[in-house]
This record gives sequence, C-alpha cells and structure tokens, in this order.
Amino acid sequence: MNLVIPTSADMERWGELCGAVARAGDLLVLTGDLGAGKTTFARGFGEALNLETPVASPTFIVARTHPRQQPELPALVHLDAYRLGSAAELDELDIDVENSIVLAEWAAPYAHALAPSWVEITISRPEGDSPDVESDEPREVTLSGHGEHGDLLDRLSKASEGFHVSRG
Ligand SMILES: Nc1ncnc2c1ncn2[C@@H]1O[C@H](COP(=O)(O)OP(=O)(O)O)[C@@H](O)[C@H]1O
Ligand SMILES: [Mg+2]
Repeated sequence: MNLVIPTSADMERWGELCGAVARAGDLLVLTGDLGAGKTTFARGFGEALNLETPVASPTFIVARTHPRQQPELPALVHLDAYRLGSAAELDELDIDVENSIVLAEWAAPYAHALAPSWVEITISRPEGDSPDVESDEPREVTLSGHGEHGDLLDRLSKASEGFHVSRG
C-alpha cells in the first residue's frame, strides 16, 4: 500500500489515525533516512494513545515504555534500534510485545525476533536531499505486512484511507 503525506502536520495526523487502531501485540517498524519523518509519525501515534509522557526522539535511550493515562490499556514501547548490533541485544531488552504496542525505528532487521507478524512503514523523501529538511515537503510512504497472518495491515490501511494513492 502506498501513501503520500504532504506535510509534517499531515504526518502527525496520520500517525494519530494509526495509533487509534493499534492494539496490544502490534509491532510497527519505521524505516527511512534521518529526517524522513519517523519520529513525527511516532509523536502523532502517541497522541492517539493518551500517554503519561509524550513520545520524543529516543536519541540516547534504546527503548522507552510510555504507560497510558488509563494504566489498564497496553503501553506504547518506542524503540530506536539504530545502535543495536544484533537480535540477541534486542532480546536482552525483554520487551513485552504481546501486552504492548511497539513502534520501532530502524528495527527492520530484527523485527522477526520481536513478533510473529509486523508491518513495516517505509518513509522516503521523493525529491531527495533538499537543503532545508525542516520545510514541508511530501513524503512517500509504503506499508507492507510481514510474517504470519495478522490484521494490523488491514487496520492501518482503513485508517489511512485519506492518504492513499493508486499506482497505475
Ligand atoms: N511531509 C512530511 N512528513 C514528515 N516530516 C516532514 C514532512 N515535511 C517536512 N517534514 C520535516 O522533516 C523532519 C522529520 O523529522 P523526524 O520526524 O525527526 O525524522 P526521523 O525521525 O525520521 O529522523 C521534521 O523537521 C519535519 O518538520
Ligand atoms: Mg527519529
């Protein structure tokens, strides 16, 4: 599934729409170069979940657990796998995927070690490197389902209807 997200505000809004359909056991893997919009998406995603503390850029922390304001609901685990060297290192973090919603930046090589199924969200800047990363510029987004059958891709697809593009 392919999407176009025109602006940074749209990226946050789309993240929010995705967060609203997330459930315990969901794993979303975010792939894309520095400045692509992964954390912007994660911020919106977290907005939908009413977290105790907002999602930030996890620069020094590999995995951060954000409890919900309603503690009985599954927490958001925001993972930045940029510095991880192996699936074994990820295993040591002991992430309770089954009872959490996991949003993982840079984790594509290790996703199989985390959950039986996941959705990879790849964000790219179609115009390539422009001098001003901050200014709004459309992002191309691809969603793909991996592993055993799961319905996360279907839920995300429905939530993303306003941003779909058809490729002829
Ligand atoms: N369409 C867009 N979607 C997301 N971010 C955008 C968009 N257009 C411009 N931006 C800017 O790109 C930057 C993305 O940063 P960030 O989300 O931290 O990226 P990453 O986590 O992938 O390194 C922000 O400064 C944001 O304002
Ligand atoms: Mg980031």
